[in-house]
Amino acid sequence: MVIWGLVLGAMLVAIVAYLCLPGLLRQRRPQEPPLDKGCIPWVGHAMAFQKNMFEFLRGKWAKDGDVFTVLLGGEFFTFVMDPLSFRPIIKNTEKKLDFVQYAEEVVQKVYGYQRLQGDYQIIHTASTKYLMGDGLKDLNQAVLDCLSLVLLEPGDPKLGATHWQEDGLFHFCYNIMFKAGYLSLFGCTKDKEQDLLQAEEVFKKFRRFDILLPRFLYSLLGPRERLEMGQLQCLFHKMLSVRHNQEKEEGMSNWLRHMLRYLSEWGTTPAVLAKFSFMMLWASQGNMGPSSFWALLFLLKHPEAMQAVKDEAAQVLRGTKLEAKQSFVLPISALGRTPVLDSVMEETLRLAAAPTLVRVVQEDCTLKMASGHEYLLRRGDRVALFPYLSVHMDPDIHPEPCTFKFDRFLNPNGSRKVDFYKKGKKIHHYSMPWGSGVSICPGRFLALSEMKLFVLLMVTYFDLELVEPDTPVPPIDPGRWGFGITQPSHEVHFRYRLKPMD
Ligand code: HEM
Ligand SMILES: *[C@@H]1O[C@H](CO)[C@@H](O)[C@H](O)[C@H]1NC(C)=O
Repeated sequence: MVIWGLVLGAMLVAIVAYLCLPGLLRQRRPQEPPLDKGCIPWVGHAMAFQKNMFEFLRGKWAKDGDVFTVLLGGEFFTFVMDPLSFRPIIKNTEKKLDFVQYAEEVVQKVYGYQRLQGDYQIIHTASTKYLMGDGLKDLNQAVLDCLSLVLLEPGDPKLGATHWQEDGLFHFCYNIMFKAGYLSLFGCTKDKEQDLLQAEEVFKKFRRFDILLPRFLYSLLGPRERLEMGQLQCLFHKMLSVRHNQEKEEGMSNWLRHMLRYLSEWGTTPAVLAKFSFMMLWASQGNMGPSSFWALLFLLKHPEAMQAVKDEAAQVLRGTKLEAKQSFVLPISALGRTPVLDSVMEETLRLAAAPTLVRVVQEDCTLKMASGHEYLLRRGDRVALFPYLSVHMDPDIHPEPCTFKFDRFLNPNGSRKVDFYKKGKKIHHYSMPWGSGVSICPGRFLALSEMKLFVLLMVTYFDLELVEPDTPVPPIDPGRWGFGITQPSHEVHFRYRLKPMD
């Protein structure tokens, strides 16, 4: 017995030591960035990071300068904060930084989906074909139809009466955008009322998953929540399985159909297809509600911006009417003639988008900074960018960076402004809501047109007001930095009603 106890004890010590090794043994070598392992072996600074990544990085940046390495949960992350030095990282000029490996690790943990060789190419091909250019036109029409369906709920007497209703703005935007996005990509059946009920059900689960996700990724959920997360994952795999959705096949977007067809031709099992669909549901819907919320909130808080958007909308939508309260009629081509709304969306994303871009170092290499400084990077480490802090909030690139200026991305002659400068040098990456380089979001054009359609409908066909007009813009939930679009730390209440039509 005693012997076994000793052996077990020794094994435990060995395991713990092995896990802590990277933190304990590693020393900064000459020419490497400043290294900070924190006080807790293996964990490093993960707690402070999870609590408020923005504040943590701001502090490190002020102390250590533009490049520094921190230990986070057993991995070393080298953050690069100087946007003038982003180019070689994004372009991967030395071919030594890899995006897929990191994405694989995350995807496996969150969706239970083990990435297949080449699925990245399938996503890319399908997205280029159906989420951009001409292929996007059909999808935009489907999105508009679904927005009509969700906003006007046929058979629902509430809206017909055009009286005021109250809701949380965040909940309202997330709910509407999710249901419209889900139905347009994953398909509808002939029974619209049933589809709406089902979409509502999926939304509730999705939102719960969304709330648990950041702490899940940092492995900080309690046992109860971990169990719930497991159940949610199973539920999604079931709800999104091909068999479950057979009758939807017809209404499914070409984008998803194309990807699923290719994957099955490779012999992918139905169970894996469901996990893939779950990943696509998350990628396509996790940011749409939150960004639409910020856009409407900024417009409600800035009457001059709201007026400018309304004026532009009235101009491009001249003569279109709500037909017998059945659906919104809006020429999709109008989306190409809205420079003011485009600037509003770009400004909203500058203030709301806070993704982390990560690459894994494949071989020891050097990082050349714009200043001429060179740093050594170690194989297996991660290189990370957090453009919200280092670009979006840089007062040199964007004067008064915390202020919403709806015309920040407009030239005086009304065209889109693309000239931004840092230290007098023209800067290419002046806003990075979609990531950049090989991993740039393939859904960005769809995302923009979907959000623009939503805002156009809301300001054109609805009266909107904040319940408390003086309520300030709520602070950002500090536990979600780095996960794409930020979320507010509390709700904002508003009223809306369908405008009486004559
Ligand atoms: C406001 C809305 C959205 C934002 C801010 C956003 C942003 C992003 C970001 C930052 C990434 C990761 C880039 C990286 O790792 O470097 C990403 C990946 C992705 N996005 Fe989006 N996205 C949005 C909407 C959408 C929509 C509507 C779709 C599709 C219909 C979509 C599809 C994808 C896919 C498939 C990927 C992952 C590609 C892969 O891992 O292979 N996104 N998005
Ligand atoms: C509008 O102004 C910008 C710079 O202010 C200029 O680059 C662009 O060519 C102008 N466009 C037109 C149509 O005049």
